[in-house]
Amino acid sequence: MKIAVLISGSGSNLQALLDSSVRENIQLVVSNKASAFGLERARKAGVPTHSMLKADYSSRDIYDQAVAEYLNQQAIDLVVLAGWMHILGARFLDVFQGQTINLHPALPGQYPGTHAIERALKDGVERTGCMVHRVTLEVDVGEVLGVSEVEIKPTDTLAELEERMHSAEHRLLVSVVEGMVKGVQALS
Ligand code: GRF
Repeated sequence: MKIAVLISGSGSNLQALLDSSVRENIQLVVSNKASAFGLERARKAGVPTHSMLKADYSSRDIYDQAVAEYLNQQAIDLVVLAGWMHILGARFLDVFQGQTINLHPALPGQYPGTHAIERALKDGVERTGCMVHRVTLEVDVGEVLGVSEVEIKPTDTLAELEERMHSAEHRLLVSVVEGMVKGVQALS
C-alpha cells in the first residue's frame, strides 16, 4: 500500500508514522505550506517531499484537482491528512473518495472545524478525544475508523490539553494506519 501524508505544519503526527512500521509504505509527503516543519521531518527520514501552494492555482477547484492528479501520478493508494489545513472538495474526492482519511482532535460529531481542542476546553467538558475518519465532502464527518478519548482535567491549560491530545493522536493514527496496511497485506 502506497501512502501519501498531507501536512501543513509541525508534522508531529507524520513523525509518529515515520517512526512506526508503516514507514516503508510512506512514498511521499505533500505540504500546502512551503515552511511546514514536517517537510524537514520527511527529508530527514528520506521520504520525498512536495509543496503545493493554493496561491499558485487560479481557483480552489483547480488546486484540488491538481493535488489529486499529482497523487494519482504517484500511484498513491491511501492519502492520510495529518494536520492538513485545507478542505479538499469534490474535484479531489472524485478521485480519492474512500481512500482518504483524516485525523481530527475531537470525538465523532463534536467540534468539527478548527480550534477543536480550545473549544472543548472552553466548554468545560470533562472529556474530549480524537478520531480518524474517512473524508467526505462534509468537514470532519465520515466513517469513523478509530477513536481515542482524552480526559480534560479541571486545572488544564490549553498547552497541557494539547500535549495530552497530541500523544493520543499519535498512538491512534499509527494504530489505524497500521491496521489498514495489515488488512491489505492479509488480502494479497
Ligand atoms: C493535530 O492536532 C491534528 O488533529 C490537527 O492539526 C494538528 C496537527 O499537528 N488537524 P501536527 O502537524 O501533526 O503536529
